[in-house]
Parts: sequence; structure tokens; C-alpha cells
Amino acid sequence: MSTSRVAISLTGATGYIGGSVLTRLLHHPSAATFDITVFVRSAEKAKLLEEKFGVKAVVGTHADSDKLEAFAEQSHVIFSCADSDNLPAIQAILRGLRKRHTATGDVPILIHTSGSGTVCDMAGGMFISETIYSDMNVDQIKSIPPTAPHRALDLAIVDADTQGYARTYIVLPSAIYGIASGPLVDAGISNPFSIPIPVVVRIAFARGEMGMVGAGKNSWSNVHIDDLTELYIRIFDGATKDKESIGHGWEGFYFGENDEHQSLELCKTIAQVLAELGLGGSGEPTTYITGELTKYVGSEDISHFLGANSRCRADRGRSIGWKPSRTLEDLLKGIKPEVEALWKKQLQDGA
Ligand SMILES: NC(=O)c1ccc[n+]([C@@H]2O[C@H](COP(=O)([O-])OP(=O)(O)OC[C@H]3O[C@@H](n4cnc5c(N)ncnc54)[C@H](OP(=O)(O)O)[C@@H]3O)[C@@H](O)[C@H]2O)c1
Repeated sequence: MSTSRVAISLTGATGYIGGSVLTRLLHHPSAATFDITVFVRSAEKAKLLEEKFGVKAVVGTHADSDKLEAFAEQSHVIFSCADSDNLPAIQAILRGLRKRHTATGDVPILIHTSGSGTVCDMAGGMFISETIYSDMNVDQIKSIPPTAPHRALDLAIVDADTQGYARTYIVLPSAIYGIASGPLVDAGISNPFSIPIPVVVRIAFARGEMGMVGAGKNSWSNVHIDDLTELYIRIFDGATKDKESIGHGWEGFYFGENDEHQSLELCKTIAQVLAELGLGGSGEPTTYITGELTKYVGSEDISHFLGANSRCRADRGRSIGWKPSRTLEDLLKGIKPEVEALWKKQLQDGA
């Protein structure tokens, strides 16, 4: 990387993924050369980020598309870590990057967060699929239907790369686990909890026992948050140091994966922990009945993800030197402390 300052922007700084990526950027060996600007909803957190962490902050929501566009326009590198499904937001970011390219000739770098939910099937918890997606298999990646989750954004992003006004990298985390830690979490700025495990644990708190979709035979790949954060940094380093050294555009899909779990094994472990802690149930998960998920999370849609196979291999990340170390064993070992932390938070929040 040259010694000139690098304009880096990030959305989702107050979130689980974005907060973890920002934390890692603040500790990057070249951090002194970064000019980091974040886009956040909370004016209070923006102030804390500026005063305690020396980053600039723009206060806005994704609905402020002009603001988001201007935010993107001033970025040589932008990490999009807030939302894998908000198409107008990514369109605003892409408009900003195109404007920058037109005005300056720079080809800005977009590192966007999608998800392996894009390859979910309709198993409904009833079978394990033999299909495993590899991010090195470009034809397989191209075969994902345009109607798949996250896909509309991913296609718009690849199109920007094909048109040549941005270089694009899409990270597709599988089920992320682990409680995020670090100064942004300690300062109350970023969310320490992921989505997949906390969601089903909170539903279990409400329903009095652990649930699952169908027979829990489906399988999800998984990745620890600290390993995943390293993948973003690997991509960032590759994209900024030697731009042709790593794949972008259609060759720029990077699954975040190290190992996988069958839903039944995960749900049983959670059920056993809940029983052991006296938080409900007999130690065995029971199948959700129709209407239950609507009662607890407002819709049945989540059952599509919970009951799906989402099996992938992070071959591309490994090919650029990413070395994730946590495995299924770490995921299962982390269930008890995570259930305890979620229960403590629920009591604190008075829910
Ligand atoms: N966690 C996983 O296992 C996983 C796996 C694959 C993909 N993903 C996807 O990755 C994305 C980020 O996930 P996460 O786990 O980091 O979630 P998270 O902790 O809930 O973080 C979401 C972040 O986006 C911000 N945000 C949301 N809507 C916004 C809006 N309208 N305007 C401005 N900021 C907004 C939030 O800001 P506030 O703090 O103001 O709410 C927060 O900073 C999600 O789309 C998720 O589906 C997650």
C-alpha cells in the first residue's frame, strides 16, 4: 500500500459484522494511513465514534439516499456491512462510486456483505442436500437464481464491476457465531450478538423450549466472527495492495465458512443447555408448529432459512491465504456462554 492516505468508508459500524470489521481496521498495521468515515443512524454513537475512536461519522439512515450516495462518492474503499437486502441502499452506494469514477478516474473498491442464505434450498428440515457451493466454481455461482435471497444486490454489484467503474468483492458469510468483543462493544457502540443462534435462543426463551424446523436434518455451513473479520481484511489487503492479485466481479464471491452443522445437532445442544440452566424444556428440541414463528417473530418466513441447507466452501478465501481456525467444536462449546449472555441481556432489557 502506498503511503498516501486511504479514504475508507463503512456502513453498519454499530452492528455485529460492521463493528467487528471496523475494530479490526482500527488495529490494522496501516491504520495510521486510513481516513475512516462511518455511516450510522445514532447521533449519540456517531459522537462516541468520533471522540473515542478518531473516525469521522455521517449520521443518516438508508432512506437518506442522497446522503448515502455522497458518503460513497468520497470513498476509495467502502465496506458495506449493514444490510444484505436493501436494494435502494446499495443502488445509492453504486451511484456514488460511479460519480467518483467519472469525476476522478479512480476505480473504487466495494467490499459488500451478502450471505450464504443466497444458496438456501426448500428442505424444510427434512433432508441434507448433497449440493455444496464452491466460490471458485463461477458457473455454479452464476447459476444462483435472481430471485434468491440477497441476489438482487449481488447482481447489481457485479454489474458495477463488469462496467468497470468499481472493483467489487462480495463476502457471503454462512451462519456466523461467537460473541463479538473489543472496544466498540465495550463502549456500547456495536452489537455483540449474531443473528442465527440468538434468534432461535430468544424464540426458545419465549416458547419455553427449544424448537426446530421439521426434523432438523438440514445443514448450514458456519464461521466464527473473528475468522470472518480476518477474511474481510485479507480481501481489503489484496484489493488495495495488488489489485489483480485477488478475484473481483464474478471471480469476487467469497464464502465465509469453516465447517458446518446439522440443525438437529445445534438445536439439541441449545436444548440441553436451556434445560441445564433451568431456562425451559426437557433437553430435546421440538418441531415448530404452523403459526408459532409468526407468534414469536412476526412471520413464518424465517423457517425457510432455519430449515434450509446452505452448504458452501470458502475455497476462494483460502486461495488468498485466509486461514480460519474455529470449527464446529468451537461453535458447540460457545453455546452455553452465549445462552447465558442472551438471558442476562433479556433480563437487563426487561423483556
Ligand atoms: N449474522 C449473520 O450470521 C449473518 C450472516 C450472513 C449475512 N448477514 C447479513 O449481514 C447484514 C449485517 O448483519 P449483522 O449480523 O451485522 O446485523 P446487525 O448486528 O443487526 O447490524 C446491522 C447494522 O446495519 C445498520 N442498519 C440497519 N438498517 C439500517 C438503516 N435503515 N439505515 C442505517 N443503518 C442501518 C444497523 O444500525 P443500528 O445499530 O442503528 O440498528 C447496524 O449497524 C444483515 O443484512 C444480515 O442479514 C448476517
